[in-house]
Amino acid sequence: MTGSEWWRTAVIYQIYPRSFADANGDGMGDLTGITNRLPALRALGIDAIWLSPFYTSPQNDAGYDVADYCDVDPLFGTLADFDTLQHTAHELGIRVIVDLVPNHSSSEHPWFEAALAAAEGSEERAHYIFRDGQGENGDLPPNNWDSVFGGNAWTRVTNPDGTPGQWYLHLFDTTQPDFDWDNEWVKAQFRDVLRFWLDRGADGFRVDVAHGMIKAAGLPDYTPPVAGGSMGGASTEGPGIITEWPETAPYWAQDGVHDIYRDWRLILDEYPGDRILAAEAWVDPLSHVAEWVRPDEMHQAFNFAYLETAWAGPALRRVIDDSLAAFGAVGAPSTWVLSNHDVVRHASRLALNHENLQGHGIGPTTPDLPDNVIGLHRARAASALMLALPGSSYLYQGEELGLPEVIHLPDSAREDPTWFRTNGERYGRDGCRVPLPWEAAAPSYGFGPSAESWLPQPDEWAGLARDAQVGVAGSTLELYTLALGLRREHALGLGSVEWLDGHADEIVALRNGAVTVVANTGATSVPLPAGELLLASGPLPGNTLPGDTTVWLRA
Ligand code: NOJ
Repeated sequence: MTGSEWWRTAVIYQIYPRSFADANGDGMGDLTGITNRLPALRALGIDAIWLSPFYTSPQNDAGYDVADYCDVDPLFGTLADFDTLQHTAHELGIRVIVDLVPNHSSSEHPWFEAALAAAEGSEERAHYIFRDGQGENGDLPPNNWDSVFGGNAWTRVTNPDGTPGQWYLHLFDTTQPDFDWDNEWVKAQFRDVLRFWLDRGADGFRVDVAHGMIKAAGLPDYTPPVAGGSMGGASTEGPGIITEWPETAPYWAQDGVHDIYRDWRLILDEYPGDRILAAEAWVDPLSHVAEWVRPDEMHQAFNFAYLETAWAGPALRRVIDDSLAAFGAVGAPSTWVLSNHDVVRHASRLALNHENLQGHGIGPTTPDLPDNVIGLHRARAASALMLALPGSSYLYQGEELGLPEVIHLPDSAREDPTWFRTNGERYGRDGCRVPLPWEAAAPSYGFGPSAESWLPQPDEWAGLARDAQVGVAGSTLELYTLALGLRREHALGLGSVEWLDGHADEIVALRNGAVTVVANTGATSVPLPAGELLLASGPLPGNTLPGDTTVWLRA
């Protein structure tokens, strides 16, 4: 691991531990499974992994409900397994970023259990956000806020003597009570959590809900512009569009969050080795997101505006320009991301013809379901464009295999709290979390040694298994491997974007150093531009560049 400020150009691969690889055959991914499969990621050519939560947790929100920030859930292994994973990754030249979930804990965290057991007005209760209810008997919630997952954001507790008590705030599930980040004790606990993982050698943190930790004084009522829950604004231009949030919600993007990150940055800077903080902040517009990555705050913030941009020339040019300008203005690299564990996989999403809000998902009754063939073409072309851009890119496990969203999951298998809290009205995020296929001919497609898989894998996934794609010309895995190799060889992460004129509106054409990139987002073939072909996201019949195809050429 050499080089300073590695994160400015890094390709960071998101591992969702439940679904990456299962070493013990219980149908649930685990840390040893990840360790065993790290050589495949080395071969892919990524720089770092980000591990979604593997901490002690009742798993009511797939581990984003943490009951012990400094231990591993037995479902995933032990702290020693984490150390082995990290050591193996470092030996392979792969950095390890862990997920920090500071907005809320699990309701089974001892801190929350202590708060419940303590009296109203106690120090223990002050760690969370407890309030009296409204109405004559306090039986109405303290304000009108909705949970991101649907339903009310408040739950009333029962006092030890059986009488109804106060209410506590949970922006997510009932089992995820929000901390009060104005409380000094809470701040001190999280400084310790940071040090715990930094001392163990972690290379950084992806910070969950990094725009949500501070709430406006007085917790005023608020009605969001789009009903139905969402993690906040992100400007979009295609189907699924919220252009702008007229005002800041009292629970998102409050100024006070920045003091927290300035404090954390000082801690990270005490450690050698270029450790990083990466913000999950669904705010809008990009110039606002850039506030999270000012020089004394975090290093990176996810570019959700890019993720939410339609596969269309003008929109893509605009979001690329806006991203480079916004992040560049504060001296931070732009990030790029197309998929993660909270959104419909881009091999399906890019073929959707209708609005799909973040977190709502798609399922059997969704009208006008996406065409997988079109979706995969677009996904490959979109990824090829993304990986040519300067800055740092995030990949979500399985996108290098071209996995689509799984639509036909049985209702009984679903686990996302969104599904339960909306009585099935929103499918939620299970469809992008199905365990990976590694070996076409093995039980559970090699996800583990048994046929068990916590979400069922579709039959069609045999053909998408990693071993069915390795070394196969034209496979999605080979496309990603080639793109990552060329990206490194030509130092594209350090480069810049120079737009090339003279193309139709639906053509995105740019030069980054020695590489010319041309993406045809339209439906009509155009002549293939001149130059030595380095990479093509699909076939190029008769020297043309068909729709939904991207090429890289030596400039
Ligand atoms: C964002 C995470 O990515 C998501 O999976 C989780 O449900 C919420 N934050 C709550 O922690």
